[in-house]
Amino acid sequence: MANVTVIGAQWGDEGKGKLVDWLSNRADVVVRFQGGHNAGHTLVVGNQTYKLSLLPSGVVQGKLSVIGNGVVVDPWHLLEEIDKLRGQGVAITPDLLVLADNACLILPLHRDLDRAREAAATQKIGTTGRGIGPAYEDKVGRRAIRVADLADREALEAKIDRLLSHHGPLRRGLGLPEADPAAMLAELEAMAPKILPYAKPAWRLLDEQVKAGKRVLFEGAQGALLDVDHGTYPFVTSSNTVAGQAAAGSGLGPKGPGYVLGIVKAYTTRVGEGPFPTELTDEVGRHLGEVGREVGTVTGRSRRCGWFDAALVRQSVALNGIGGIALTKLDVLDGLPTLKICIGYKLGEEALDYLPAGLKAQGQLVPVYEEMEGWSETTQGARSWRDLPANAVKYVRRIEELIGAPVALLSTSPQRDDTILMRDPFQD
Ligand code: GDP
Ligand code: IMO
Ligand code: MG
Repeated sequence: MANVTVIGAQWGDEGKGKLVDWLSNRADVVVRFQGGHNAGHTLVVGNQTYKLSLLPSGVVQGKLSVIGNGVVVDPWHLLEEIDKLRGQGVAITPDLLVLADNACLILPLHRDLDRAREAAATQKIGTTGRGIGPAYEDKVGRRAIRVADLADREALEAKIDRLLSHHGPLRRGLGLPEADPAAMLAELEAMAPKILPYAKPAWRLLDEQVKAGKRVLFEGAQGALLDVDHGTYPFVTSSNTVAGQAAAGSGLGPKGPGYVLGIVKAYTTRVGEGPFPTELTDEVGRHLGEVGREVGTVTGRSRRCGWFDAALVRQSVALNGIGGIALTKLDVLDGLPTLKICIGYKLGEEALDYLPAGLKAQGQLVPVYEEMEGWSETTQGARSWRDLPANAVKYVRRIEELIGAPVALLSTSPQRDDTILMRDPFQD
Protein backbone atom coordinates (compact mmCIF):
# COMPACT_ATOMS: atom_id res chain seq x y z
CA MET A 1 0.00 0.00 0.00
CA ALA A 2 1.33 3.42 -0.90
CA ASN A 3 0.33 5.48 2.12
CA VAL A 4 0.74 4.91 5.85
CA THR A 5 -1.12 6.51 8.74
CA VAL A 6 0.55 6.56 12.13
CA ILE A 7 -1.78 6.98 15.09
CA GLY A 8 -1.47 6.66 18.85
CA ALA A 9 -3.37 3.61 20.08
CA GLN A 10 -3.52 4.56 23.77
CA TRP A 11 -3.66 7.95 25.53
CA GLY A 12 -0.91 9.65 23.54
CA ASP A 13 2.88 9.81 23.95
CA GLU A 14 3.35 6.32 22.56
CA GLY A 15 6.36 7.39 20.47
CA LYS A 16 4.60 8.57 17.30
CA GLY A 17 7.24 11.24 16.63
CA LYS A 18 10.11 8.75 16.76
CA LEU A 19 8.34 6.35 14.40
CA VAL A 20 7.19 9.04 11.96
CA ASP A 21 10.76 10.33 11.80
CA TRP A 22 12.04 6.79 11.19
CA LEU A 23 9.42 6.04 8.53
CA SER A 24 9.70 9.39 6.81
CA ASN A 25 12.75 8.40 4.80
CA ARG A 26 10.48 5.88 3.05
CA ALA A 27 7.84 8.58 2.36
CA ASP A 28 7.61 11.64 0.11
CA VAL A 29 5.18 13.77 2.11
CA VAL A 30 4.36 13.87 5.83
CA VAL A 31 0.97 15.25 6.92
CA ARG A 32 -0.53 16.31 10.25
CA PHE A 33 -4.32 16.04 10.10
CA GLN A 34 -5.76 16.89 13.54
CA GLY A 35 -4.92 18.37 16.91
CA GLY A 36 -2.64 21.32 17.32
CA HIS A 37 0.31 22.29 19.48
CA ASN A 38 -1.09 20.23 22.34
CA ALA A 39 1.01 17.44 20.79
CA GLY A 40 4.60 16.92 21.87
CA HIS A 41 6.62 14.62 19.63
CA THR A 42 10.22 13.94 20.62
CA LEU A 43 12.81 12.78 18.09
CA VAL A 44 16.30 11.78 19.10
CA VAL A 45 18.92 11.60 16.39
CA GLY A 46 22.47 11.11 17.65
CA ASN A 47 23.06 13.85 20.19
CA GLN A 48 20.29 16.09 18.84
CA THR A 49 16.80 16.10 20.37
CA TYR A 50 13.95 17.70 18.46
CA LYS A 51 10.67 18.51 20.17
CA LEU A 52 7.86 19.17 17.73
CA SER A 53 4.32 20.21 18.55
CA LEU A 54 2.87 21.47 15.31
CA LEU A 55 5.37 20.76 12.58
CA PRO A 56 5.11 17.31 11.00
CA SER A 57 8.04 15.18 12.15
CA GLY A 58 9.09 14.69 8.50
CA VAL A 59 10.65 18.18 8.46
CA VAL A 60 13.69 16.88 10.29
CA GLN A 61 14.49 14.54 7.38
CA GLY A 62 13.75 17.38 4.92
CA LYS A 63 10.51 15.83 3.65
CA LEU A 64 7.70 17.87 2.18
CA SER A 65 5.51 18.54 5.21
CA VAL A 66 1.85 19.50 5.32
CA ILE A 67 -0.25 20.91 8.15
CA GLY A 68 -3.70 19.84 7.03
CA ASN A 69 -7.08 21.52 7.36
CA GLY A 70 -8.01 19.35 10.36
CA VAL A 71 -5.30 20.92 12.51
CA VAL A 72 -6.01 23.99 14.63
CA VAL A 73 -3.06 26.30 14.17
CA ASP A 74 -1.64 28.86 16.56
CA PRO A 75 0.25 30.92 13.98
CA TRP A 76 2.53 32.60 16.51
CA HIS A 77 3.49 29.23 17.93
CA LEU A 78 4.10 27.92 14.42
CA LEU A 79 6.52 30.76 13.70
CA GLU A 80 8.33 30.12 16.99
CA GLU A 81 8.64 26.42 16.23
CA ILE A 82 9.99 27.16 12.75
CA ASP A 83 12.58 29.47 14.35
CA LYS A 84 13.49 26.90 16.99
CA LEU A 85 14.05 24.22 14.35
CA ARG A 86 16.03 26.64 12.24
CA GLY A 87 18.26 27.14 15.29
CA GLN A 88 18.83 23.36 15.29
CA GLY A 89 19.88 23.42 11.66
CA VAL A 90 16.55 22.42 10.07
CA ALA A 91 15.74 25.04 7.45
CA ILE A 92 12.00 25.35 6.91
CA THR A 93 10.91 27.22 3.82
CA PRO A 94 7.56 27.47 1.99
CA ASP A 95 8.96 24.86 -0.41
CA LEU A 96 9.20 22.39 2.44
CA LEU A 97 6.21 23.33 4.59
CA VAL A 98 2.64 23.76 3.41
CA LEU A 99 -0.10 25.06 5.67
CA ALA A 100 -3.67 24.31 4.54
CA ASP A 101 -5.31 27.64 3.71
CA ASN A 102 -8.60 26.33 5.13
CA ALA A 103 -7.19 25.41 8.55
CA CYS A 104 -8.68 27.27 11.53
CA LEU A 105 -6.57 29.46 13.78
CA ILE A 106 -6.01 29.29 17.52
CA LEU A 107 -5.99 32.83 18.88
CA PRO A 108 -4.88 34.17 22.27
CA LEU A 109 -8.54 34.34 23.32
CA HIS A 110 -8.82 30.56 22.91
CA ARG A 111 -5.91 30.00 25.25
CA ASP A 112 -7.43 32.47 27.75
CA LEU A 113 -10.72 30.61 27.67
CA ASP A 114 -9.10 27.16 27.98
CA ARG A 115 -7.09 28.23 31.02
CA ALA A 116 -9.86 30.22 32.70
CA ARG A 117 -12.28 27.31 32.36
CA GLU A 118 -9.78 24.85 33.77
CA ALA A 119 -9.04 27.19 36.66
CA ALA A 120 -12.75 27.58 37.44
CA ALA A 121 -13.76 23.93 36.99
CA THR A 122 -14.40 21.66 39.94
CA GLN A 123 -13.78 18.65 37.70
CA LYS A 124 -10.80 19.62 35.53
CA ILE A 125 -9.97 17.90 32.25
CA GLY A 126 -6.28 18.61 32.72
CA THR A 127 -5.90 20.19 29.27
CA THR A 128 -2.60 21.43 27.91
CA GLY A 129 -3.96 24.98 28.24
CA ARG A 130 -3.16 25.77 24.62
CA GLY A 131 -6.63 26.72 23.47
CA ILE A 132 -7.35 23.53 21.53
CA GLY A 133 -10.91 22.92 22.77
CA PRO A 134 -12.15 26.51 22.38
CA ALA A 135 -10.62 26.72 18.87
CA TYR A 136 -12.43 23.58 17.73
CA GLU A 137 -15.63 24.92 19.29
CA ASP A 138 -15.36 28.04 17.14
CA LYS A 139 -14.62 25.90 14.09
CA VAL A 140 -17.80 23.84 14.38
CA GLY A 141 -19.63 26.98 15.51
CA ARG A 142 -18.74 28.47 12.10
CA ARG A 143 -17.15 31.59 13.53
CA ALA A 144 -13.45 30.66 13.35
CA ILE A 145 -10.82 32.72 11.57
CA ARG A 146 -9.09 30.59 8.97
CA VAL A 147 -5.63 30.89 7.45
CA ALA A 148 -7.00 32.28 4.16
CA ASP A 149 -8.80 35.09 6.02
CA LEU A 150 -5.42 36.57 6.89
CA ALA A 151 -5.12 37.75 3.28
CA ASP A 152 -8.43 39.59 3.33
CA ARG A 153 -8.69 42.57 5.68
CA GLU A 154 -12.42 43.07 5.15
CA ALA A 155 -13.22 39.44 5.91
CA LEU A 156 -10.94 39.58 8.90
CA GLU A 157 -12.68 42.62 10.39
CA ALA A 158 -16.12 41.09 9.98
CA LYS A 159 -14.92 37.78 11.44
CA ILE A 160 -13.34 39.45 14.45
CA ASP A 161 -16.64 41.20 15.20
CA ARG A 162 -18.57 37.99 14.92
CA LEU A 163 -16.04 36.11 17.05
CA LEU A 164 -16.03 38.74 19.76
CA SER A 165 -19.80 38.89 19.93
CA HIS A 166 -19.53 35.25 21.03
CA HIS A 167 -16.47 35.55 23.25
CA GLY A 168 -17.45 38.84 24.94
CA PRO A 169 -20.08 37.33 27.26
CA LEU A 170 -17.90 34.25 27.89
CA ARG A 171 -14.96 36.40 28.93
CA ARG A 172 -17.13 38.59 31.14
CA GLY A 173 -18.57 35.50 32.82
CA LEU A 174 -15.09 34.21 33.61
CA GLY A 175 -13.78 37.59 34.78
CA LEU A 176 -11.43 37.99 31.82
CA PRO A 177 -10.69 41.49 30.46
CA GLU A 178 -12.64 42.65 27.41
CA ALA A 179 -10.99 41.72 24.08
CA ASP A 180 -10.13 44.69 21.88
CA PRO A 181 -11.07 44.17 18.19
CA ALA A 182 -8.65 46.83 16.91
CA ALA A 183 -5.72 45.30 18.79
CA MET A 184 -6.66 41.85 17.55
CA LEU A 185 -6.80 43.05 13.95
CA ALA A 186 -3.41 44.74 14.33
CA GLU A 187 -1.85 41.58 15.79
CA LEU A 188 -3.25 39.41 13.02
CA GLU A 189 -2.17 41.83 10.32
CA ALA A 190 1.36 42.01 11.73
CA MET A 191 1.66 38.21 11.73
CA ALA A 192 -0.07 37.55 8.37
CA PRO A 193 2.88 38.29 6.04
CA LYS A 194 5.01 35.73 7.92
CA ILE A 195 2.40 32.95 7.74
CA LEU A 196 0.82 33.51 4.33
CA PRO A 197 3.83 32.31 2.29
CA TYR A 198 3.17 28.81 3.67
CA ALA A 199 -0.59 28.91 2.96
CA LYS A 200 -1.80 26.78 0.04
CA PRO A 201 -4.71 24.54 -0.92
CA ALA A 202 -3.11 21.51 0.73
CA TRP A 203 -5.74 19.08 -0.59
CA ARG A 204 -4.68 19.97 -4.12
CA LEU A 205 -1.02 19.46 -3.45
CA LEU A 206 -1.76 16.06 -1.88
CA ASP A 207 -3.96 15.09 -4.83
CA GLU A 208 -1.11 15.96 -7.21
CA GLN A 209 1.41 14.06 -5.11
CA VAL A 210 -0.71 10.92 -5.02
CA LYS A 211 -1.36 11.12 -8.77
CA ALA A 212 2.40 11.36 -9.29
CA GLY A 213 2.82 8.09 -7.36
CA LYS A 214 4.27 9.70 -4.23
CA ARG A 215 3.95 8.11 -0.80
CA VAL A 216 2.13 9.97 1.93
CA LEU A 217 2.78 9.42 5.63
CA PHE A 218 0.11 10.74 7.98
CA GLU A 219 1.17 11.69 11.49
CA GLY A 220 -1.52 11.45 14.15
CA ALA A 221 -1.37 13.37 17.38
CA GLN A 222 -2.76 12.30 20.77
CA GLY A 223 -4.23 8.78 20.90
CA ALA A 224 -7.41 6.82 20.23
CA LEU A 225 -8.51 6.97 23.87
CA LEU A 226 -8.35 10.78 23.67
CA ASP A 227 -10.63 10.82 20.60
CA VAL A 228 -13.61 13.12 21.10
CA ASP A 229 -16.05 10.34 20.07
CA HIS A 230 -14.30 7.13 21.03
CA GLY A 231 -12.17 8.18 23.98
CA THR A 232 -12.81 8.49 27.70
CA TYR A 233 -15.19 11.43 27.20
CA PRO A 234 -15.17 14.15 28.54
CA PHE A 235 -11.53 13.49 29.49
CA VAL A 236 -10.45 13.68 25.88
CA THR A 237 -9.08 16.18 23.42
CA SER A 238 -11.41 18.06 21.08
CA SER A 239 -10.60 16.36 17.79
CA ASN A 240 -11.08 12.95 16.23
CA THR A 241 -7.73 11.30 16.67
CA VAL A 242 -8.59 8.00 14.98
CA ALA A 243 -7.11 7.06 11.60
CA GLY A 244 -10.32 7.87 9.70
CA GLN A 245 -9.68 11.53 10.45
CA ALA A 246 -6.57 11.44 8.25
CA ALA A 247 -8.91 11.61 5.25
CA ALA A 248 -11.14 14.47 6.41
CA GLY A 249 -8.30 16.37 8.03
CA SER A 250 -6.19 16.42 4.87
CA GLY A 251 -8.73 16.33 2.05
CA LEU A 252 -7.27 13.23 0.48
CA GLY A 253 -10.43 11.09 0.51
CA PRO A 254 -11.20 7.84 2.33
CA LYS A 255 -8.56 5.74 0.56
CA GLY A 256 -5.86 8.26 1.51
CA PRO A 257 -4.89 6.89 4.94
CA GLY A 258 -3.77 3.52 3.51
CA TYR A 259 -2.11 1.13 5.96
CA VAL A 260 -2.76 2.09 9.57
CA LEU A 261 0.17 1.67 11.93
CA GLY A 262 -0.86 1.93 15.58
CA ILE A 263 1.86 3.12 17.92
CA VAL A 264 1.62 1.20 21.16
CA LYS A 265 3.69 1.61 24.30
CA ALA A 266 4.69 -1.65 26.00
CA TYR A 267 2.89 -0.35 29.12
CA THR A 268 0.32 2.44 29.51
CA THR A 269 0.57 6.14 30.33
CA ARG A 270 -1.82 9.04 30.49
CA VAL A 271 -1.36 12.78 31.17
CA GLY A 272 -4.22 14.77 32.62
CA GLU A 273 -7.37 13.62 34.36
CA GLY A 274 -9.74 10.76 33.58
CA PRO A 275 -10.22 7.02 33.98
CA PHE A 276 -7.20 4.72 33.71
CA PRO A 277 -8.06 1.16 34.77
CA THR A 278 -4.50 -0.24 34.93
CA GLU A 279 -2.93 2.79 36.63
CA LEU A 280 -0.24 1.96 39.19
CA THR A 281 0.20 4.37 42.07
CA ASP A 282 2.80 2.12 43.72
CA GLU A 283 6.55 1.59 43.39
CA VAL A 284 6.19 -0.15 39.99
CA GLY A 285 4.29 2.87 38.61
CA ARG A 286 7.03 5.19 39.86
CA HIS A 287 9.68 2.87 38.37
CA LEU A 288 8.01 2.96 34.93
CA GLY A 289 7.75 6.77 35.11
CA GLU A 290 11.39 7.12 36.05
CA VAL A 291 12.94 4.62 33.67
CA GLY A 292 10.60 5.65 30.85
CA ARG A 293 11.20 9.37 31.59
CA GLU A 294 7.46 9.88 31.53
CA VAL A 295 7.24 13.64 31.74
CA GLY A 296 4.97 15.53 29.34
CA THR A 297 6.80 17.40 26.56
CA VAL A 298 4.26 20.23 26.39
CA THR A 299 3.33 20.87 30.02
CA GLY A 300 6.12 19.18 31.98
CA ARG A 301 3.56 17.20 33.97
CA SER A 302 4.40 13.70 35.17
CA ARG A 303 2.57 11.07 33.16
CA ARG A 304 0.51 8.55 35.08
CA CYS A 305 1.83 5.01 34.45
CA GLY A 306 0.29 1.54 34.51
CA TRP A 307 0.39 -2.00 33.12
CA PHE A 308 -0.27 -2.79 29.49
CA ASP A 309 -4.01 -2.85 28.80
CA ALA A 310 -4.69 -5.30 25.98
CA ALA A 311 -8.46 -4.79 26.12
CA LEU A 312 -8.00 -1.11 25.47
CA VAL A 313 -5.55 -1.61 22.60
CA ARG A 314 -7.77 -4.31 21.06
CA GLN A 315 -10.53 -1.69 20.99
CA SER A 316 -8.11 0.76 19.39
CA VAL A 317 -7.19 -1.79 16.71
CA ALA A 318 -10.87 -1.98 15.75
CA LEU A 319 -11.57 1.77 15.93
CA ASN A 320 -8.61 2.64 13.73
CA GLY A 321 -8.49 -0.32 11.37
CA ILE A 322 -4.96 -0.97 12.54
CA GLY A 323 -3.02 -3.28 10.22
CA GLY A 324 -0.01 -3.61 12.50
CA ILE A 325 1.61 -1.91 15.45
CA ALA A 326 4.91 -0.39 16.38
CA LEU A 327 5.58 -1.49 19.94
CA THR A 328 7.69 1.09 21.78
CA LYS A 329 9.56 1.34 25.06
CA LEU A 330 9.94 -2.40 25.57
CA ASP A 331 13.31 -1.55 27.15
CA VAL A 332 11.55 0.25 30.01
CA LEU A 333 10.32 -3.14 31.23
CA ASP A 334 13.88 -4.53 31.46
CA GLY A 335 14.58 -5.98 34.89
CA LEU A 336 11.02 -6.17 36.20
CA PRO A 337 10.61 -9.67 37.66
CA THR A 338 6.91 -9.98 36.84
CA LEU A 339 4.80 -8.25 34.20
CA LYS A 340 1.04 -7.96 34.15
CA ILE A 341 -1.18 -7.59 31.11
CA CYS A 342 -4.81 -6.54 31.46
CA ILE A 343 -6.95 -8.86 29.33
CA GLY A 344 -10.38 -7.52 30.28
CA TYR A 345 -12.33 -5.98 33.14
CA LYS A 346 -14.81 -6.79 35.86
CA LEU A 347 -17.63 -4.32 36.37
CA GLY A 348 -19.26 -5.56 39.54
CA GLU A 349 -20.07 -9.18 38.71
CA GLU A 350 -20.02 -8.57 34.95
CA ALA A 351 -16.99 -9.51 32.82
CA LEU A 352 -16.20 -7.03 30.02
CA ASP A 353 -13.70 -7.32 27.18
CA TYR A 354 -13.97 -3.65 26.16
CA LEU A 355 -14.05 -0.19 27.68
CA PRO A 356 -17.70 0.79 28.24
CA ALA A 357 -18.80 4.29 27.16
CA GLY A 358 -20.22 5.44 30.50
CA LEU A 359 -17.89 7.54 32.62
CA LYS A 360 -19.10 6.01 35.87
CA ALA A 361 -18.56 2.48 34.53
CA GLN A 362 -15.11 3.43 33.24
CA GLY A 363 -14.18 4.62 36.70
CA GLN A 364 -15.37 1.40 38.36
CA LEU A 365 -13.61 -1.15 36.15
CA VAL A 366 -11.40 -3.66 37.88
CA PRO A 367 -8.71 -4.99 35.52
CA VAL A 368 -8.35 -8.73 35.05
CA TYR A 369 -4.65 -9.51 34.77
CA GLU A 370 -2.55 -12.21 33.29
CA GLU A 371 0.97 -12.50 34.74
CA MET A 372 4.14 -13.17 32.83
CA GLU A 373 7.69 -13.64 33.89
CA GLY A 374 9.92 -10.66 33.08
CA TRP A 375 13.53 -10.70 31.84
CA SER A 376 16.74 -9.69 33.55
CA GLU A 377 18.70 -9.05 30.34
CA THR A 378 18.68 -5.69 28.57
CA THR A 379 16.67 -4.96 25.45
CA GLN A 380 17.74 -1.33 25.37
CA GLY A 381 19.14 -0.43 22.00
CA ALA A 382 18.46 -3.88 20.52
CA ARG A 383 18.41 -3.70 16.73
CA SER A 384 17.53 -7.25 15.89
CA TRP A 385 14.74 -9.58 16.93
CA ARG A 386 17.40 -12.22 17.65
CA ASP A 387 18.91 -9.98 20.34
CA LEU A 388 15.78 -10.11 22.47
CA PRO A 389 15.57 -12.31 25.56
CA ALA A 390 13.14 -15.22 25.27
CA ASN A 391 10.72 -13.74 27.79
CA ALA A 392 10.64 -10.43 25.94
CA VAL A 393 9.75 -12.32 22.76
CA LYS A 394 6.99 -14.13 24.68
CA TYR A 395 5.64 -10.80 25.96
CA VAL A 396 5.53 -9.33 22.46
CA ARG A 397 3.90 -12.45 20.98
CA ARG A 398 1.26 -12.49 23.73
CA ILE A 399 0.45 -8.84 23.05
CA GLU A 400 -0.01 -9.61 19.34
CA GLU A 401 -2.37 -12.44 20.20
CA LEU A 402 -4.42 -10.42 22.66
CA ILE A 403 -4.83 -7.29 20.54
CA GLY A 404 -5.34 -9.13 17.25
CA ALA A 405 -2.64 -7.27 15.30
CA PRO A 406 0.96 -8.08 14.40
CA VAL A 407 4.02 -6.14 15.50
CA ALA A 408 5.46 -4.45 12.41
CA LEU A 409 8.12 -2.44 14.23
CA LEU A 410 9.72 -2.59 17.63
CA SER A 411 11.41 0.35 19.31
CA THR A 412 14.04 -0.20 21.97
CA SER A 413 15.29 3.31 22.83
CA PRO A 414 14.55 6.97 22.00
CA GLN A 415 17.24 6.91 19.26
CA ARG A 416 16.05 6.88 15.66
CA ASP A 417 18.04 3.80 14.69
CA ASP A 418 17.19 1.66 17.71
CA THR A 419 14.24 0.32 15.77
CA ILE A 420 13.58 -3.23 14.58
CA LEU A 421 11.65 -3.62 11.36
CA MET A 422 9.59 -6.81 11.14
CA ARG A 423 7.40 -5.87 8.18
CA ASP A 424 7.48 -2.68 6.16
CA PRO A 425 4.19 -0.76 6.56
CA PHE A 426 4.66 0.78 3.10
CA GLN A 427 4.80 -2.70 1.55
CA ASP A 428 1.92 -4.23 3.50
P1 GDP B 1 4.54 10.96 20.93
O1 GDP B 1 3.75 12.09 21.48
O2 GDP B 1 3.71 9.76 20.64
O3 GDP B 1 5.42 11.35 19.78
O4 GDP B 1 5.53 10.50 22.09
P2 GDP B 1 6.44 11.48 22.99
O5 GDP B 1 7.59 11.91 22.18
O6 GDP B 1 5.61 12.50 23.67
O7 GDP B 1 6.87 10.47 24.14
C1 GDP B 1 7.62 9.34 23.89
C2 GDP B 1 8.95 9.47 24.66
O8 GDP B 1 9.59 8.20 24.70
C3 GDP B 1 9.93 10.40 23.98
O9 GDP B 1 10.72 11.02 24.96
C4 GDP B 1 10.78 9.47 23.13
O10 GDP B 1 12.10 9.95 22.91
C5 GDP B 1 10.82 8.24 23.99
N1 GDP B 1 10.86 6.96 23.27
C6 GDP B 1 10.33 6.64 22.08
N2 GDP B 1 10.53 5.32 21.81
C7 GDP B 1 11.20 4.83 22.86
C8 GDP B 1 11.69 3.52 23.19
O11 GDP B 1 11.52 2.55 22.46
N3 GDP B 1 12.34 3.39 24.39
C9 GDP B 1 12.53 4.43 25.23
N4 GDP B 1 13.16 4.21 26.38
N5 GDP B 1 12.07 5.67 24.95
C10 GDP B 1 11.42 5.86 23.79
P1 IMO C 1 0.83 13.63 21.75
O1 IMO C 1 0.58 13.91 20.30
C1 IMO C 1 -0.87 13.01 25.71
C2 IMO C 1 -4.42 15.36 26.75
C3 IMO C 1 -4.26 16.41 27.82
C4 IMO C 1 -5.64 16.36 28.44
C5 IMO C 1 -6.54 16.14 27.23
C6 IMO C 1 -7.18 17.40 26.67
O2 IMO C 1 2.12 14.16 22.27
O3 IMO C 1 0.61 12.18 22.06
P2 IMO C 1 -6.25 19.40 25.22
O4 IMO C 1 -5.20 20.42 25.53
O5 IMO C 1 -5.99 18.59 24.01
O6 IMO C 1 -7.64 19.99 25.23
O7 IMO C 1 -6.20 18.40 26.49
O8 IMO C 1 -5.74 15.55 26.24
N1 IMO C 1 -3.47 15.48 25.62
C7 IMO C 1 -2.42 14.67 25.44
N2 IMO C 1 -1.94 13.66 26.19
N3 IMO C 1 -0.29 13.30 24.53
C8 IMO C 1 -0.76 14.29 23.75
O9 IMO C 1 -0.29 14.52 22.51
C9 IMO C 1 -1.86 15.05 24.20
N4 IMO C 1 -2.56 16.09 23.70
C10 IMO C 1 -3.54 16.32 24.57
O10 IMO C 1 -3.26 16.06 28.75
O11 IMO C 1 -5.77 15.22 29.27
MG1 MG D 1 3.78 13.37 23.12
